[in-house]
Amino acid sequence: MLSKSDSLKIFTVVTVTAVIVFLFLSYDTLKKIPDQTNEQNITESVIRGKNIWESNNCMGCHTIFGEGAYYAPELTKVYVRRSEEFIKIFLKDPLAMYPGKRKMVKYDFSDGEIDDLIAFLKWCSEVDLNGFPAEPYLKKHIQPVVSGNLASDIAKPVIFDKLCLTCHILNGKGNRIEPAPNLDGIGNIRDKAFFEKWLRDPNAVKKGSLMPKFPLSESTILELSEFLSKQK
Ligand code: HEC
Ligand code: HEC
Repeated sequence: MLSKSDSLKIFTVVTVTAVIVFLFLSYDTLKKIPDQTNEQNITESVIRGKNIWESNNCMGCHTIFGEGAYYAPELTKVYVRRSEEFIKIFLKDPLAMYPGKRKMVKYDFSDGEIDDLIAFLKWCSEVDLNGFPAEPYLKKHIQPVVSGNLASDIAKPVIFDKLCLTCHILNGKGNRIEPAPNLDGIGNIRDKAFFEKWLRDPNAVKKGSLMPKFPLSESTILELSEFLSKQK
């Protein structure tokens, strides 16, 4: 049987040890935060982006760092999952990208505001969250490269790498997001006229297509179609 004073001693030693361990762990965690958040990268633009994020209640539909509402996609890593170009085009007019199908609000942001939001989302994507949320798993359905055509003399429109490779693969570069096809050899099965129609509005060619409609200029569409038709 323990005496009262022995119990008190054990109680005191255990409590004091637990408090010390707790304080040490808290200190250790707090000390790591500036590194994990890349504090030095929090620019004026990131702060403005965060304010726009908050004043427009983006979390009414989205989650970020796991917090918010589950109506719309998690955005912590959206900068990695999509690309800067993709997000820019999307925020300008979300409905144009998914005509008649989707529910993201069109905010009429200025270009500056969009840049700030992107800076904020980029900063979020770089925070070290000990593996949360899981890295976007983008390479799930990569197919072997079948195209023999690596000819670098075919002019590749700049937007192709910035935007199209967010979802497609060509010559082993890019991400393949199901059901976006690998574009190797696409010139063997489709022609230029098809690509032009497709890029103007995928949904008009194939009802219910999951490829968004991008606000591409007519000259970009022609360049892209020329480029795609040569992928043989
Ligand atoms: C009314 C709900 C709603 C609000 C509010 C909202 N969104 Fe969205 N958002 C969506 C939906 C739904 C999608 C999925 C695409 C679609 O359906 O248009 C989306 C998609 C996105 C995407 C692209 C995600 C991807 O993986 O392609 C980004 C970036 C984005 N939203 C940013 C924002 C920002 C920034 C705000 C605040 C300024 C915001 N959203 C506010 C509903 C919302
Ligand atoms: C958000 C992801 C996404 C992006 C970005 C994207 N695509 Fe697609 N693309 C798709 C999907 C999904 C399909 C399959 C559509 C379907 O069959 O419904 C597709 C299909 C295609 C096809 C094949 C059409 C056919 O039936 O043969 C071509 C060509 C194409 N995309 C070109 C492009 C080009 C060029 C760009 C850049 C301007 C681009 N895509 C950007 C998702 C995307």
